[in-house]
Amino acid sequence: MSPKTGSVHKYFAIAGLAIATAALGCGRAAAEDTIKIGLVMPMTGAVGAAGQEVAAAVRLYMAQHGDTVAGKKIEILLRDDGSVPDVAKRLAQELAVNDHVAILGAGTTPSAMSMAPIATEAKIPTVVMISGTSVVTERSPYYVRTCFTLGQQSGIIADWAIKNGSHKAVSVLSDWAPGAEAGKAFEQHFTQGGGQLLDTLKVPLQNPDFAPFLQRARDLQPDTLFVFVPAGQAGTFARQFAERGLDKSGIKLVGPGDIVDDNDLAATGDALLGVVTAGFYSAAHPSKLNQDYVAAYAKATGGKRANFISVGGYDGMHLIYAALEKTGGNTDPDKLLAAMKGMSWESPRGPISIDPETRDIIQNVYIRKVEKRNGEPYAVEFETFEHVKDPLHQAAK
Ligand code: PHB
Repeated sequence: MSPKTGSVHKYFAIAGLAIATAALGCGRAAAEDTIKIGLVMPMTGAVGAAGQEVAAAVRLYMAQHGDTVAGKKIEILLRDDGSVPDVAKRLAQELAVNDHVAILGAGTTPSAMSMAPIATEAKIPTVVMISGTSVVTERSPYYVRTCFTLGQQSGIIADWAIKNGSHKAVSVLSDWAPGAEAGKAFEQHFTQGGGQLLDTLKVPLQNPDFAPFLQRARDLQPDTLFVFVPAGQAGTFARQFAERGLDKSGIKLVGPGDIVDDNDLAATGDALLGVVTAGFYSAAHPSKLNQDYVAAYAKATGGKRANFISVGGYDGMHLIYAALEKTGGNTDPDKLLAAMKGMSWESPRGPISIDPETRDIIQNVYIRKVEKRNGEPYAVEFETFEHVKDPLHQAAK
């Protein structure tokens, strides 16, 4: 080795050490004063609307509750995974290794699945804010969910349909994990109740065209259509549903709350009037807390209606703030997890808690009918199922 190369090597070795030391020092200083929360959300791509809604709710929560907890400053590092799971994994890794985040927020099912090994290996408490697939919380002992599961809603609406005269149903499902779970819960309850499922039609997640599937469903002559489309697609679905005349066909449309997403509902006119869903959130939920939330969300977003996705983010921030209060700002992952388990509070959606066994959300599920309020369609609640747990976790026990 020439003297020149040797000194170059030495230079890099020292520079590397200096960077490592600086990074360590930085990490330590940050650990003392600032708590970093890394949010990996779909801000663009197939479910880009959902990430935008979570981010708006997180910002709103912090505007209302301040950016310090237990004497520590809260810093949000928001990253866009573009609705691509591999990107979510890389971003989570960078947030863990380079940014030393104490807490992560996870978004949709595929992304939350791919991030789970990082949360486990780096021991980072991760709040699942969008994913509605049961298995997600089993993928890491550091996962805690503040949103919902599709099973929670889809079994209940199947029971309601049977009780209200449905005999023959067709399912139309967005073709990915949450759709499969919605369909499974609906089918189990519907057939157990004596109903017949004529067919299950799967619609691609990306740029969906519902028209051919709706035509096919209609041709099968069901009395009931069970539909799951994810956040951001309810508007397109409603338009195509009405264009095919299905709103006047006498076929009963039912589903989980996603098909009457408040963010889209205002623009659907009369297309979804009378549609009954089982959901956990409606902008029309009559509590004072919710009416204040809806007003504040609209003010903060230039007039958007708060929806079921936004509350997953809002409550996710509440869970993080309340857990940090409880630990006195200590970010030890096991202490934070212990603080989160069993936590209960009043959300804009109603009373909710974190199941200490499964780390999954327990919440009320409401049966709602789309009706006009002040000239605009809303999902108006008329029956409540209290403290509903995820049925698939219950079944596995
Ligand atoms: C999910 O990622 O599991 C998900 C996303 C949007 C929905 C429902 C489920 O509306």
